[in-house]
Amino acid sequence: MILVVGATGLLGGEICRLLMQRGTPVRALVRGTSNPDRVARLESIGAEQVRGDLKNRTSLDAACRGASAVISTASSTLSRQEGDSIESVDRQGQLSLVDAAAAAGVERFILISFPPVETEFPLQSAKRAVEERLRNSGMTYTILQPTFFAEVWLSPALGFDPPNRKAQIYGGGQNKISWISIQDVAQFAVAALDNPQAKNAVIELGGPEPLSPLEVVRLAEQVTRKRFDVEHVPEEALRAQYRSATDPLQQSFAALMLFYARGKAIDMKGALRAFPGQHLTSLREYFETSTHTRSSTSLT
Ligand SMILES: NC(=O)c1ccc[n+]([C@@H]2O[C@H](COP(=O)([O-])OP(=O)(O)OC[C@H]3O[C@@H](n4cnc5c(N)ncnc54)[C@H](OP(=O)(O)O)[C@@H]3O)[C@@H](O)[C@H]2O)c1
Repeated sequence: MILVVGATGLLGGEICRLLMQRGTPVRALVRGTSNPDRVARLESIGAEQVRGDLKNRTSLDAACRGASAVISTASSTLSRQEGDSIESVDRQGQLSLVDAAAAAGVERFILISFPPVETEFPLQSAKRAVEERLRNSGMTYTILQPTFFAEVWLSPALGFDPPNRKAQIYGGGQNKISWISIQDVAQFAVAALDNPQAKNAVIELGGPEPLSPLEVVRLAEQVTRKRFDVEHVPEEALRAQYRSATDPLQQSFAALMLFYARGKAIDMKGALRAFPGQHLTSLREYFETSTHTRSSTSLT
């Protein structure tokens, strides 16, 4: 039985679906405050649910009991309740989860992190601290470090808005990024459970082809047959936001936007050798199937 922490999130939900589809029993950690639609979806796929919170160690001890592996995708960056913060959830909460899993005799732990970023910021220092605790935990671990999720960074929530023909770009838009689909990350996470090559490994993940944000806009224009208005957030503005941020979350977002502006291309040859048969979704496929773009196809 696999415990999924973050099961009500975008990535965790997809991981639960894939696990149930392949007949692996899932225990999903949920909270009383979790989105009811997401909880209902977990119910509909037949996942067992356990109440718990990363801020409550006792609940984590109970959740880990009897699990052979833990997959943790949880983060307070997008989904926050009272008392949730980078410090209480992404650092202390995840550290407690690693400790609870090791104490309960869990054999394998898969952690979702992100690739190293030059600039220091609170979310990165939390992720690195948890990675280190996990590497020293005695459990077999896999640390997956995907780049930018297409479903998040190429969505209206972050200013990439095909139905309204608008694209906000962080920086000049010429540096390439290996955008990755959440579905692909979920497949890597599930495959890592029994892939010997993923044992005690840290693996950077990206999509099939790095594309600059301006190339992404051109591709989205082709798929939607609409011309986009492009607005740039200058790197200098992002640096100022990073320097003046008083809140750890704000500072982390500014640092991630700077990371985007500088680009992150990942050579996936090694990861694909280690995970043969893994499909990498192209951005064309993503745009053709995404609900963010599907609604609009007229040429204007
Ligand atoms: N977005 C990107 O481009 C990107 C890139 C690389 C890596 N990542 C990493 O990918 C992971 C998954 O992202 P996502 O998009 O799936 O996030 P998401 O949709 O915001 O989901 C976050 C999950 O964390 C849970 N959570 C938050 N606080 C919690 C707490 N105190 N106790 C228990 N659970 C808690 C949420 O549960 P509730 O429903 O109960 O709030 C939710 O299930 C994150 O770790 C993120 O850092 C993201």
